[in-house]
Amino acid sequence: MSMENYEIPRHVAIIMDGNGRWAKKRMMPRTYGHAQGSKTVEKICEDAYRMGIEYLTVYAFSTENWQRPKEEVDTLMNLLRDYMKDCIKTSKKNNMRVRIIGDITKLDTDLRESIKKLEEASSKNTGLKFQVALNYGGRDEILRAAKKFAEDYAAGVLPEFGAVGEADFENYLDTAGIPSPELLIRTSGEVRLSNYLLWQLAYAEFYFTDVLWPDFDKKELQKAIEYYNKRDRRFGGV
Ligand code: FPP
Repeated sequence: MSMENYEIPRHVAIIMDGNGRWAKKRMMPRTYGHAQGSKTVEKICEDAYRMGIEYLTVYAFSTENWQRPKEEVDTLMNLLRDYMKDCIKTSKKNNMRVRIIGDITKLDTDLRESIKKLEEASSKNTGLKFQVALNYGGRDEILRAAKKFAEDYAAGVLPEFGAVGEADFENYLDTAGIPSPELLIRTSGEVRLSNYLLWQLAYAEFYFTDVLWPDFDKKELQKAIEYYNKRDRRFGGV
């Protein structure tokens, strides 16, 4: 499929759902599904960038995911640990800038250090801007932003209340400086937002597919963009 005549969204957000079911279908433990899902993440980053997507934001671990069985939480954290380390090399190779969004103060010290290293090492890269949502919740992000905002307001570094606009508040979100996504993709047939990017997705198109995350590939991404273009035309877009 050629994407030549399509309008490519600048920022795509993804809820990578269905790893557990993918593994179950193969009589394998859920953790195997997450490992496979992590490989899919790497491939999709490359495909997205080749298609002309500038920003990609994936939901890797939500503030609610701590409630999963300890073994599963540990596996996910270890996958993310490996990812942060390996990604120092990959981001150099493919010129990708990586940023973590979410409350990382709750993560283990070594993981936080790897995150810092990766963010610093990739900060000047000019290719895909890749955001990983880790211990992320939309409500939590807005609340943390409101607290920081209130602190700065009290310190007198903000305009008067009457003059404060959305852009002033956006600076306090984890996604400060990143344009809002035009397209949200959720895999595996669930039709929920699950506390993802509540502020940022206000005007996004939503695309839901039954495909399970480990099976999501370039073709599926193209289908989502095709859908986005149909919606865009209906509402008088380009
Ligand atoms: C949802 O599937 C997926 C997650 C909770 C975790 C997503 C994490 C990864 C894809 C791996 C690590 C990420 C990176 C960025 C390297 P589920 O377990 O809810 O599946 P189910 O609904 O079938 O049970």
